[in-house]
Amino acid sequence: MARASTIFVCTACGAEAAKWHGRCPGCGEWNSLAEEARGGAPARAAGAAAPGRPIPLADVQAPHVPRLRTGIGELDSVLGGGLVPGSIVLIGGSPGIGKSTLTNMALGHLAGAGRATLYVSGEESAAQIRLRAERLGPTALEVPVLAETDLDTVLDVLRAERPAACVIDSVQTLSSAALDGAPGTVGQVREVASRIAEVAKRSGTAVLLVGHVTKEGALAGPRVLEHLVDCVLQFEGERERTYRTLRALKNRFGSTNEVGVFEMRERGLAEVLDASARFVGEATKAPGSVVLAAMEGSRPLLVEVQALVSPSELVPPRRVCTGLDRNRLALVLAVLGRHAGVGVGTADVFVNVVGGVRIDEPGADLAVALAVASAARGVSTEPAPLACYGEIGLTGELRSVAHPDRREDEAAKFGLRTVVSPGTAPTLRQAVRAALQGGERAARAA
Ligand code: TYD
Ligand code: MG
Repeated sequence: MARASTIFVCTACGAEAAKWHGRCPGCGEWNSLAEEARGGAPARAAGAAAPGRPIPLADVQAPHVPRLRTGIGELDSVLGGGLVPGSIVLIGGSPGIGKSTLTNMALGHLAGAGRATLYVSGEESAAQIRLRAERLGPTALEVPVLAETDLDTVLDVLRAERPAACVIDSVQTLSSAALDGAPGTVGQVREVASRIAEVAKRSGTAVLLVGHVTKEGALAGPRVLEHLVDCVLQFEGERERTYRTLRALKNRFGSTNEVGVFEMRERGLAEVLDASARFVGEATKAPGSVVLAAMEGSRPLLVEVQALVSPSELVPPRRVCTGLDRNRLALVLAVLGRHAGVGVGTADVFVNVVGGVRIDEPGADLAVALAVASAARGVSTEPAPLACYGEIGLTGELRSVAHPDRREDEAAKFGLRTVVSPGTAPTLRQAVRAALQGGERAARAA
């Protein structure tokens, strides 16, 4: 019965087909057709509804809706001030990063503040969730939990309970009986998200939708939901390490600039408000270590970048990095060799952003280059630790990056008086010389 009302829609071009094809008849894309339910509320009915009259924006009523504060400051600021009632927030991240912990804590705070909450888990049993909640404190135990994977049952409960905030953990584990696909397939994931959004809008429930992402950031996962939800948050970090960052990739109700830093502890996630101080405090003065004055959204953050360069027996030699983009490392090494006289052609190179933080900005180039140069020459930067930032161009020039003043203020605040940047050195060669000449002089004298 329900089968008759399902069609297949291409996630790439939007073409519709009555049956599944391996390749879209519209645009020729492979594996892009996803099953979709048709009937009640088709996805594209929005906008086509009332044959209305355009109104000047100035006359549009936009009532101010108070936000729901989750009580986790870093989460609230990444959201732009808290959860918006009736909105859908997708939290993506690889397994084990702490999504369940974070969402459970948020609901706990809300429950403690007297709000109606609901934690839906298709992933863990109620007993497992209780064990986690025990670690998170008394308010986490006040959250009602529903261990369920059937979408219609979850929707019925949502309609009946009308919680102020609800967590769906995870979108990949719920499924609709009306669709053929297994839970987690593109069609199911889209169906789950859009039907929950519909119900949430009506009841004013703020929904936190948890989604797993693979290392490649794909696989029938949250990516196909980005346009269906109001806000996409990404929870990142290395699972074995303690620090994690939370950033907004999309936010209809706030900026995408804020980044929250958390630390996984014995009793849940703790906000790290003094991240720079910790990372600088831990920075070593050994060759191969520099401090990067990074920008995490609109917040400056000092992190230590370390490099190790060692002779290799492998052809090609190893190029390993954590917390950074591999292709960017390759580029930096090429420019170092070609334009700055630091060749590491036959050596293994390891580069690591300390603390498990992931840095995704062009300003990290110079830190990688100086850490590698310092490791390759075996001398420490002078003075150690030294702060730096800047993008490296293919012709060996240093290019300016956003917010130089905020980066320098942050470095000064933590006692790093020497900052090497595009402002102090126009080329990578000059930057390497400025950073290492003191150390090389000392090495020669010794
Ligand atoms: P979890 O929130 O289950 O991750 P996800 O939902 O993203 O898969 O938690 C991940 C890890 O965090 C888990 O291995 C256990 C650890 N953990 C702590 O170290 N301290 C704690 O208080 C909790 C609740 C979990
Ligand atoms: Mg989980």
